[in-house]
Amino acid sequence: MNARQTIVVIDFGGQYNQLIARRVRDMGVYSELVPYTVTAQKVASFDPIGIILTGGPLSAFGADSPKLDKGIYELGVPVLGICYGMQITAHLLGGEVAEGKVGEFGGVVCHYDEHPLLAAMGKEGTCWMSHRDKVVALPEGFVGIARTKDTEYAAMACDAKRIYGVQFHPEVLHTEHGLDLMHSFVYDICGAKGDWTMSNFIDEQVAALRKQLDGKKVLLGLSGGVDSSVLAALLYKACPDSLICVFVDHGLLRKNEREEVEEVFGKQFGVNLITADAAGRFLKALEGVVEPERKRKIIGETFVRVFEEEARKIGKVDYLAQGTIYPDRVESGVGNSAVIKSHHNVGGLPSVVDFDGLVEPLRDLFKDEVRRLGFALGLPRHIVMRQPFPGPGLGVRVLGEITEDKLRIVREADYIFREEIAKAGLDESIWQYFAALSNMRSVGVKGDSRSYDYAVVLRAVASVDAMTAEWYKIPYDVLDVVSTRITNEVSGVNRVLYDITNKPPATIELE
Ligand code: XMP
Repeated sequence: MNARQTIVVIDFGGQYNQLIARRVRDMGVYSELVPYTVTAQKVASFDPIGIILTGGPLSAFGADSPKLDKGIYELGVPVLGICYGMQITAHLLGGEVAEGKVGEFGGVVCHYDEHPLLAAMGKEGTCWMSHRDKVVALPEGFVGIARTKDTEYAAMACDAKRIYGVQFHPEVLHTEHGLDLMHSFVYDICGAKGDWTMSNFIDEQVAALRKQLDGKKVLLGLSGGVDSSVLAALLYKACPDSLICVFVDHGLLRKNEREEVEEVFGKQFGVNLITADAAGRFLKALEGVVEPERKRKIIGETFVRVFEEEARKIGKVDYLAQGTIYPDRVESGVGNSAVIKSHHNVGGLPSVVDFDGLVEPLRDLFKDEVRRLGFALGLPRHIVMRQPFPGPGLGVRVLGEITEDKLRIVREADYIFREEIAKAGLDESIWQYFAALSNMRSVGVKGDSRSYDYAVVLRAVASVDAMTAEWYKIPYDVLDVVSTRITNEVSGVNRVLYDITNKPPATIELE
């Protein structure tokens, strides 16, 4: 069955669901996040060494509350319920859950008994609570093993069946030794060996890819972004002769971007890399277009056409490689964090290329794991730690009509901004930062003469998943240098503006 030891994380829609799955992986154990509607049979198919039930926003005893297949408790696999996961366990196994008189939200002092699950917790410590409902009567065979001022059963255990529950959140750092508690569950109770390492992953994938791709051709659209770059490096390590990469230069790239991709993949790795030089074609298609959605559509369609033409020249390929990663395919629980960004994807590639199957070797990895893999495969830091860059490139950073001259301005200004951010040591602390070109021209004075030039907009944000973002407070002296350099070094610019809007109401990109 499953060669990797797996912990199945069953998601009830809590805000920390993905975090739990990632914490387990950070401990060296592979985890799968599945929605609470999963059947016991499906869970068994993972051959798991343990099961974790996440928190969730609803009541365990409400009519519309998310229920769980009770067979999951009969699989003979250790179960740890967290918050809602503890309540639903108590409810389904014959205990009682009720609304508490007072809720507990935030850090609370918790008193712990001696128990293998709590071995690292000491006698008491702060735990992070977020609940109003609580377990008021335990199911048969369970005992309480921790308590707070307002919660009699802050943790419960049935050692005979190896079923446990904690009302608090061990996965958040505010819970003292919370990660140690998870470690005790995963290693001491479930018997994990810690086989989820990047070197194991590489060995496993390389062996599988060699078997699948032996003597065959696989085509990859390389964008220079983190996922496609790491994918290229992995495929190259497994089957260098099978891999053909196509890089579309749409003329909307940042300064030096094409050269960097050609240097790393073409020269250092020696990948079979085809660069489609399509800048002129994109610019022509975009001539006179000002409406943002129309621009995006033109860029997306032209991209597909160019890629298709290159693929046709190659002829039939056996496989198309895609940089799908775990968050792209994970199903989630109730009314929660499902991220929908379909407008962001350059869709339609698979239907225009003649191929037999898809290869998606990154499909089990979270983003930080993709980065670790990139380092393990020897990719340079500037590619592995690259900030997100939109598919339509500078096309969504030049407001209004896109012209070659405007692209030159935004490219140069962006390069200066990046250079100064790196000099200030902020390049890995700011989630995303870039220069955009407003369509505004204003009056300025240079030497003794009047100018009537463009205004560059600097945008920098802190974010976790791009769904929300906060404008980043770059120190004034850094902004000062950036502004002076841009107005001195980039002709056609006489004003630099700093965007201080959060998302929402703004988006990260300007179009
Ligand atoms: P917005 O502007 O919607 O961007 O706040 C959120 C994140 O997504 C990136 N982005 C894109 N990525 N194709 C992509 O691959 C796109 O069309 C696209 N538009 C925005 C953006 O850079 C930010 O990180």
